[in-house]
Amino acid sequence: MKTTVSIIKADIGGLPGHAWVHPKILEFAAERLKEEQKRGLLIDYFVYNVGDDMSLLMTHTKGENNPDIHGLAWSIFKEATENIAKKVKLYGAGQDLLKDTFSGNVRGLGPQVAEMEFEERPSEPLVVFAADKTEPGAFNLPFYKIFADPFNTAGLVIDPAMHEGFRFEILDVYEGKVYLLDAPENSYDILGLIGTPGRYIIRRIYRKADFVQASVTSVERLNLIAGHYVGKDDPVAMVRAQHGLPAVGEILEAFAYPHLVEGWMRGSHVGPLMPSKMISIDLEKRIAMGPKMTRFDGPPKVIAIGFQVHDGYLEGPVDLFDDPAFDYSRQLAAQITDYIRRMGPVMPHRLPPEEMEYTTLPQILSKLKSVPVDEYEKNRLQYIQFVSSQVGQSVTGPSHD
Ligand code: F6R
Ligand code: MG
Ligand code: MG
Repeated sequence: MKTTVSIIKADIGGLPGHAWVHPKILEFAAERLKEEQKRGLLIDYFVYNVGDDMSLLMTHTKGENNPDIHGLAWSIFKEATENIAKKVKLYGAGQDLLKDTFSGNVRGLGPQVAEMEFEERPSEPLVVFAADKTEPGAFNLPFYKIFADPFNTAGLVIDPAMHEGFRFEILDVYEGKVYLLDAPENSYDILGLIGTPGRYIIRRIYRKADFVQASVTSVERLNLIAGHYVGKDDPVAMVRAQHGLPAVGEILEAFAYPHLVEGWMRGSHVGPLMPSKMISIDLEKRIAMGPKMTRFDGPPKVIAIGFQVHDGYLEGPVDLFDDPAFDYSRQLAAQITDYIRRMGPVMPHRLPPEEMEYTTLPQILSKLKSVPVDEYEKNRLQYIQFVSSQVGQSVTGPSHD
């Protein structure tokens, strides 16, 4: 039997602002998934959040892109939006549901999707990630370290099953093209691409020896779908662990260093990715409440929860960043937060202009007026006097407009 693990996530409203998910929404989703488990569509499920994003983790035997599974997630997001988020006026109710009609697949409609179908090994440890106030490319650096950096992953050197390395599937989200590159042979090429995380995203990784799939990351880019700023594309991902794949500890190790990612405050700032603990886990209800996003709507946070998958059932989860050994990473992330925040609206804390294209900044800048430099130099005094006589108004020259 092949098991499919599907994670579909959306931001359908925040409590308050973009800080957190309403607990009632998680409960609603878990109840709906329980019904579908009883009806036999799902084998198992788990619901959790990080910041304002709710993830539905579902196991079944229907394969990837299944209309029933996608339809279920879509209807849960829709119903929770109508019945809860809009009723109590959560902030940005239904924010990620960009289209009105569902036609078999949530891809391109707003939610993030990460799915993987596999034959379960005798024991199947699975690490599930979700991050808020960042983008799918935020996983590029840690996933490279997990699968290609022997200084992170001892198994690349020591374990014969991993020694041949891994094949990286990298998606160019601008051009809709896929690159297949091997580590260690093409490591420099891989880095050449994934060093631009807003464009090139490591989507799937395979073990080269037998093409066993080891990971998958969501790749939806909301701005590219909507054509304007609609929040960042807070990503989800999962990685299979152990027995010829990176150990759970090698997977988590890559997050000990809080690297800088894009997507903080207004989707327009760079900040450290803080590996964060869950606030609570309710094993009975199959719900975990994740961290809140409060300092400057962040900083960007990533959570990791671990399961043992058996016959499609999800044993767990275990909150994997709930280890004092990650306290130092959190502390470091807090220090970097403090440091970088002092730059205010200045790059590189604020994103470069290309990345601001989908935000509201172009609207503001388009109102400003300017004068060709040669002409200005010729009549500088006139221009200066003209401007100074209009303090508080936007700048224009005497002979223009
Ligand atoms: C949302 C996010 C937040 C918002 C910010 C402004 O993912 O990153 O930082 O961008 O709170 O939100 P609006 O414009 O909705 O008031
Ligand atoms: Mg939001
Ligand atoms: Mg979010």
